[in-house]
Amino acid sequence: MRLSKIFEGKISEVIATTERDGVPNAAPLGIINENGYYVRIFKSKTLENVKRTGKLAANITDNPVLFVSAALGDLEPRHFRRFWGFPVLRAADVWVLFECRVLSEIQVFSEFKLKPVALKIRRRSVRAVNRGRNAVFEAAVHATRLVLARGEEREELKKLIDYYNRIVEKCGSAAEREAMRLLYEKIAPVW
Ligand SMILES: Cc1cc2nc3c(=O)[nH]c(=O)nc-3n(C[C@H](O)[C@H](O)[C@H](O)COP(=O)(O)O)c2cc1C
Repeated sequence: MRLSKIFEGKISEVIATTERDGVPNAAPLGIINENGYYVRIFKSKTLENVKRTGKLAANITDNPVLFVSAALGDLEPRHFRRFWGFPVLRAADVWVLFECRVLSEIQVFSEFKLKPVALKIRRRSVRAVNRGRNAVFEAAVHATRLVLARGEEREELKKLIDYYNRIVEKCGSAAEREAMRLLYEKIAPVW
């Protein structure tokens, strides 16, 4: 399978793994496909790690619990293993190891160009489209912004999260409902 098939859309949501002094980290990240592959990384552990090592691995998975856990906290060490000496997620269907070259650094985010250096396709998963699964990812994006938002913006994000939760309740599986339970638990302090 070619990379262009794996990252077919304009932005593909993956879980990026990185490391710092041998300690692995995981966080959802969008891989931008525009005549090459790019990422825009806001202030985070992932940004610090990529700046230091010049590497990240894109883990392709649609596991909603992993997305929410990695977005709003740290994944436990048992979730990681090594591929070409670099941390990746055990549960991922595909690993792509990238070298990252910084293109621009502005106050809010840094942009990197990605060069694929290793690829492993472990499973080809076939699943029907499910609105509940997609809704978890939308809710998780808003949840990561909720932490920084204030006033009216925060109220708007809460409404959106509740809206996506209703889709999960209507269409999702037990895994999606568990992911939303975890999401609400993680954001409770800022709700
Ligand atoms: C589906 C999804 C996509 C995301 N895409 C990005 C992205 O492209 N760039 C970014 O900086 N943060 C993105 N985020 C937010 C980060 O994952 C989030 O800020 C995370 O807490 C960073 O964790 P870290 O400090 O461990 O690196 C995304 C979150 C979700 C749920």
